[in-house]
Amino acid sequence: MNLKDIVRPNIWNLKPYSSARSEFKGEASVWLDANENPLNQPYNRYPDPLQSSVKAAIARQKGVAVENIFLGVGSDECIDIVYRTFCRPGVDNVVAISPSYGMYEVCADVNDVEYRKVRLGDDFALDVDALLAATDANTRVLWICSPNNPTGNAFDANLLADICRRAENAIAVVDEAYIDFSSKPTMLRELASLPNLIVMQTFSKAWGSAAVRLGMAFASKEIIDIFNKVKYPYNINQLTQEYALRMLENASQVQQWVQMLLDERGKLVAQLQMLPIVKHIYATDANFVLVRVSDACDIYQYLCRRGIIVRNRHRVELCEQCLRITVGTNQENVTLIEALKEYGK
Ligand SMILES: Cc1ncc(COP(=O)(O)O)c(C=O)c1O
Repeated sequence: MNLKDIVRPNIWNLKPYSSARSEFKGEASVWLDANENPLNQPYNRYPDPLQSSVKAAIARQKGVAVENIFLGVGSDECIDIVYRTFCRPGVDNVVAISPSYGMYEVCADVNDVEYRKVRLGDDFALDVDALLAATDANTRVLWICSPNNPTGNAFDANLLADICRRAENAIAVVDEAYIDFSSKPTMLRELASLPNLIVMQTFSKAWGSAAVRLGMAFASKEIIDIFNKVKYPYNINQLTQEYALRMLENASQVQQWVQMLLDERGKLVAQLQMLPIVKHIYATDANFVLVRVSDACDIYQYLCRRGIIVRNRHRVELCEQCLRITVGTNQENVTLIEALKEYGK
């Protein structure tokens, strides 16, 4: 893959904004370069535009180099920057598995990029030949979410690597928002050997920090350097950077949360299996389960009336009569099961 051939020409040639904080990075006692207010310290100062401390901590945690990390305002910013970097509006297209996370398509629409869906097979299996058959010379990105939202299944690492190799003139994004809950390995280890791979992860799920809005994209230095040109200069604010550093020091807590949620997931599935209204529970590698029920819309409305909110996926492709249920605390899951036992009585 020649990166220049798949980056939008205007982005390849872009001269990025040079911020005050990127022009002078050293120590100083008098800061008069950024039109900041000298009062209200420390929040009067613009934050580190490249988030060096946070990235160093993420690099240690994930075993990747700082130069291979991009941080966005949630994975959602990472998704959008992929479009803005690689896809010429009105010309290029992307190919995605279906069903999958809705923002890939919304961002395609926002960026005026054709979005091609390739339906998953039985048990939501991924047909690599079908995926590649949907590509053409203007395909810039393949979107693969693993574990996939809303189906819950994760794809085999060999299969994902195979897609990267065979689609060598496109970017393959593997969105690993739910990877911490999966028995399958992360694709981060493959970054060095797959130059067209971008792996996305987030602080919103296992890290329990959806409110903070911090997402990660991992890729070759060449791709990350381009993302850094395209992003807003100070996209990750100081409060978020400080918070992320504290979270990263506390990674063992996250491991405990994940273990607790996996235990709860097992109990929830076992309880759901005993309910007559439950027709099928799909295998899951995530912190949610997709469940086919007797009447998804009616059960959804019933649960809403009881103050219990799940996601009705009935209108999503291949998810007829399905509810997507996030694993909660033990108390929340018990409340859900008790309510479902009373449904129809
Ligand atoms: C697959 C997937 N990717 C990304 C996101 C969004 O992540 P973030 O909160 O980091 O924007 C979600 C949120 O539900 C998701 O399901």
